[in-house]
Amino acid sequence: MTDSDQQGSERVDVDRQTEQGPANRELTGGQRRAERRTAIALAVTVVAGIGLFVVYFSGGQTQVEGVLFAVALGGLGVALGIWANHLLDAREVVEERHELSSGAAGREAFGDALSEEVGPVLGRRSMLLKLLAGAGGALGLALLLPVLSLGPAPGNTLKMTPWRRGSRVVDEEGEPVTLGQVPEDGFLTVFPEGHEGAADAQTLLIHVRPGSLKLPPEKMAGVPEGTHVAYSKICTHAGCPVGLYRAESQSLICPCHQSQFDVSDGARPFFGPAARPLPQLPLGVDEDGILVAQGDFPEPVGPAFWDMNRGR
Ligand code: FES
Repeated sequence: MTDSDQQGSERVDVDRQTEQGPANRELTGGQRRAERRTAIALAVTVVAGIGLFVVYFSGGQTQVEGVLFAVALGGLGVALGIWANHLLDAREVVEERHELSSGAAGREAFGDALSEEVGPVLGRRSMLLKLLAGAGGALGLALLLPVLSLGPAPGNTLKMTPWRRGSRVVDEEGEPVTLGQVPEDGFLTVFPEGHEGAADAQTLLIHVRPGSLKLPPEKMAGVPEGTHVAYSKICTHAGCPVGLYRAESQSLICPCHQSQFDVSDGARPFFGPAARPLPQLPLGVDEDGILVAQGDFPEPVGPAFWDMNRGR
């Protein structure tokens, strides 16, 4: 055995002889009370955490969930506070510095001493440790609830509107719109039947003068009689309703930031901050003379998050 081994072994032995370790100390009345209070606080956390789950999955009630979450967090805080203040060994031990290496025998002796002292302490407080684990688990699960509350993924809904092939065109009161109902140079806000007032479906039906449109054939195919053209009413800049139509110049004007769109040229923006044309809704006429959609808008309506990085 080297000198340092002998030193380490002696040091631990001396310590064990001169100090009464936690394993041998009887709990004082105050410590027992602290243990009971800690256990109660942890149990409160567990019950509040479980209660939070029950309330959430039985329909949810925001105020009750908030109270339960606060109680769960408070219980854990109180338990940890009592534990730290009354149950942990707070004695200060000053030891003279020895040579840093203890040697194999010293380390073995220290390991034995540590397991003898700490083991019984943890064993005696196993109930508190289990409660602490339960409280941590209940709170950890509770923290997952905000994730569940995010709701379903939007999927393609941001890129679709209620317009479908065959949707009858109706006005704000739900009355079907017939060909010729809108006077020349006039316009009307229309919706798909059954979705009156739907924000993403609002559409401007404009009766333009014959021969005034400069659209490619595939777009003209969605303009009954070459005079009834329909564009989304949602401005492609920031989503305001484009509510002004100037018939002389065949331009639509957005009142928010004065973007202007050329109706004769596919609602192309020619002034203001909007960078994208208003999508055109392809129309047809059914056997009753009522305007119907040939399908949804061919591209998303409104300000386009998918165009954010596109250069202007
Ligand atoms: S929202 Fe229409 S121009 Fe800004």
